[in-house]
Amino acid sequence: MQLSSRVETLTPSLTLAIDSKAKAMKAEGIDVCGFGAGEPDFDTPDHIKAAAQAALDAGFTKYTPSSGVPELREAIAKKFAADNKLEYKPSQIIVSNGAKQSCYNAIMAVCDPGDEVIIPAPYWLSYPEMVRLAGAEPVFVATSEENDWKITAAQFEDAMTPKTKMIILNSPGNPTGSVYTREELRAISEVAAEEEIYILSDEIYEKLVYDETEHVSIGSLTPEAYDLTITVNGFSKAYAMTGWRLGYLGAPEAIARAIDSMQSHSTSNPCSFAQKGGLAALKGDQQCVADMREEFNIRRAYMHGRLNAINGITAVKPLGAFYVLANINALGLNSTNFADRLLSKANVAVVPGIAFGDDRTIRLSYATSMDMIKKGIDRIEEFAKTL
Ligand SMILES: Cc1ncc(COP(=O)(O)O)c(C=O)c1O
Repeated sequence: MQLSSRVETLTPSLTLAIDSKAKAMKAEGIDVCGFGAGEPDFDTPDHIKAAAQAALDAGFTKYTPSSGVPELREAIAKKFAADNKLEYKPSQIIVSNGAKQSCYNAIMAVCDPGDEVIIPAPYWLSYPEMVRLAGAEPVFVATSEENDWKITAAQFEDAMTPKTKMIILNSPGNPTGSVYTREELRAISEVAAEEEIYILSDEIYEKLVYDETEHVSIGSLTPEAYDLTITVNGFSKAYAMTGWRLGYLGAPEAIARAIDSMQSHSTSNPCSFAQKGGLAALKGDQQCVADMREEFNIRRAYMHGRLNAINGITAVKPLGAFYVLANINALGLNSTNFADRLLSKANVAVVPGIAFGDDRTIRLSYATSMDMIKKGIDRIEEFAKTL
């Protein structure tokens, strides 16, 4: 069968492959410790569920405007102003089926075939595929542990060619847990402004930052950065709403209009009653976010400390999100072999770094119980001794 060239270059998600292997083992009754999760292990807070239930009961079950209901777009505009110092009008906000669709929309709206998009590696694995779906080309820039897995303005400048159209930034980052400082973002924004490179700033893990870490939105730094930036965020990670499929972006008016039109011809509106849940999430008490963050923080410290204490494993301390990216290179296996053997010999599921463009590392999510983390790391410790 002749499929489109667009889909023929797509690679299936490695994270899903590991996940299904781990699930199959669990189904056989094997006690697997899973660190693959990309979603909070908490339930969606009750007041958010209640708002969606009330919307359902009231018959709020029809099409809405394709970019979201006005009151949600207004609430998101207020959130951007209050939390991110980003002044967007509601018309500049597009609500979509998850931050994933928001990223996809942003790339599709800006990139043409032949354009280059700079992606710091390790990266969230959907970015390169989205760029390829747009016909553009991902250009990877390897970051290092010495710089906490962050691209520098100089590296950005070096990677630029006349074809460069966009850079994708993800702070706090998946899989690294890295958070860019204001100064780092300012330097990157200056390089982008010089050459008028668009910035896709994926801030989905914004609420999950630890210690004294400050989350900064690059689009808020200068008027030039604002004009070039598409800021993506959503409800999945902050409010444990992954299954609701609700995310959003704020963008310069012309980009927002283009995305509005694109979405109206592809998916139309995100789920009507989920939008009411999203509204309750933004307007309600934010203590639920603080409580989840506190629990994540305890696990983060424990997981990071234990992993670093294992001979042959090093990990940069993550300042955000809910992942630890551990370097296992000194143990003599590449990431796929390490993850495969760890799963079959020690019943521990992790994601090989190759999925994120770095074959020396594995990603562990701490969006799982403390008991599971303790048991799983004990097993990793024993496994590492056998290598
Ligand atoms: C960096 C990053 N961006 C976006 C998403 C997608 O989030 P959503 O559930 O809102 O589509 C994820 C989910 O794993 C992510 O890790």
